[in-house]
Amino acid sequence: MSIGIGVVGTGIMGADHASTISRRVPSGFVAAVADPDASRLEAAVRGTGAGKAYTNPIDLIEDPKVEAVIVASPDQTHAELVRACLRAQKPVLCEKPLAPSPEECLGLVEQEASLGRRLITVGFMRRFDPSYRAMKSELRQGRLGAPLLFHCIHRGTRASTPATSDMIITAAAVHEIDITRWLFESEIVRCRVFNSRRQTESPIRNPQFLVLENESGVLITIEVFSSVYGYDVRGEVVCDRGTIMLSDPREILLRLDGHERRDFYDDWRPRFATAYQDQMSDWIKSITGADSEEFDGATAWDGYVAASVADACLRSTTRDQDVDIELSARPEIYS
Ligand SMILES: NC(=O)c1ccc[n+]([C@@H]2O[C@H](COP(=O)([O-])OP(=O)(O)OC[C@H]3O[C@@H](n4cnc5c(N)ncnc54)[C@H](O)[C@@H]3O)[C@@H](O)[C@H]2O)c1
Repeated sequence: MSIGIGVVGTGIMGADHASTISRRVPSGFVAAVADPDASRLEAAVRGTGAGKAYTNPIDLIEDPKVEAVIVASPDQTHAELVRACLRAQKPVLCEKPLAPSPEECLGLVEQEASLGRRLITVGFMRRFDPSYRAMKSELRQGRLGAPLLFHCIHRGTRASTPATSDMIITAAAVHEIDITRWLFESEIVRCRVFNSRRQTESPIRNPQFLVLENESGVLITIEVFSSVYGYDVRGEVVCDRGTIMLSDPREILLRLDGHERRDFYDDWRPRFATAYQDQMSDWIKSITGADSEEFDGATAWDGYVAASVADACLRSTTRDQDVDIELSARPEIYS
C-alpha cells in the first residue's frame, strides 16, 4: 500500500523531501505539491510526477487524494498550516520549528490533545541518524556508566548561515536541543548563552556558545559557528568510564601527492540524507500501521519543548545570565 503525500513548500527542504519520497520511499508517493512560487512548483511537479499543483496550500490540505501532509514552507507559516491539517484530521510532518514561538507551539499541542490522538510529527531528523542512534543504544547498554557531559559542535558554510543572530539558536542549535532530550530522555532545566568575539566582519553574532543542564545533571555544551569551513556536526558524550563520539560520516579519504584529504559537505542534506529517508519511511509506516514498533519521531510536545528551550536561550543572551526553563503541564496523549 502506498499513500498519497502532499508537500507544502517546494524550496530546499520541500524539494528534497519530495525527491526522497519519489525515489527512495515506495510506501508513499507525491500526490500534490503547493507553493506560491510558480517556477518552484513547476520544477517539483517535473521532478516527482505529482498529480496536482496548488498555489494555495489550504487547497492541497483539503484535497481528498492527499492522505498526509509535509509542511516545508517558511517557519512563520507552520502554525496556520498545521492547524489546517488538524482540522482535516490528516497526519502532518512539519519541518522544524513547529512554530517560531513556544506560545504558538502550545496552541497546536492543545488543539491536537483535544482531538485525543497524535497527528503531528516535527522534522527533528537527527533522531533517525545512524550515528546518533548507535550512540543512544550504547548509552542504554550502560558499559560506559552514567553520562556526565555532552560536547556538541555545529558548524556550517556561508550557504547555510542563518539570516539573524537569533536564528543561530532557533534554526541551528535547536537540533542539538532536541537531540539532547532524545538521547538522555531527560528534560533541560537551565540554559546560558555566551558570546565570544564576533567572527571578523560577520553581520550576526557568530559563533555562539550554549551551556544547557538537564534534570539528570548532565551538562551540554553547544558551539554553533556558521560561515566557516564546511558543514560539520560533531558530538561526544563523556561518561563515568569512557566517552562515545559520533562517527565521521564523510565517505572517502583521499591520499594524493603527499597529502591526505577529506571533503566536508556544503550543507545538512548529504550529511543527514539517511536520517531524512528513515524519518520519512518510518513516518509513513506509522501512518499506515505497517510498523509495530513505536515511531521515534518528534511529537508536537517535543516541538513545544524545543521552542521553549530556544526561547529561554534567547532570553539568556539578552540578560547575560542563566535562565530556568519553565514548561506547561504535559497533556496525557504525550506520555
Ligand atoms: N530539518 C532540517 O534539517 C531543516 C533544514 C533546513 C530548513 N529546515 C526548515 O524547513 C523549512 C523550509 O526551509 P527551506 O530552507 O526549504 O526554505 P526555502 O525558502 O528554500 O523554501 C520555502 C518554500 O516555501 C514557499 N512558501 C512560502 N510561503 C508559503 C506558503 N504559505 N505555503 C506554501 N509554500 C510557501 C516558498 O515559495 C519556498 O519555495 C523551514 O521551516 C526551515 O526552518 C529544516
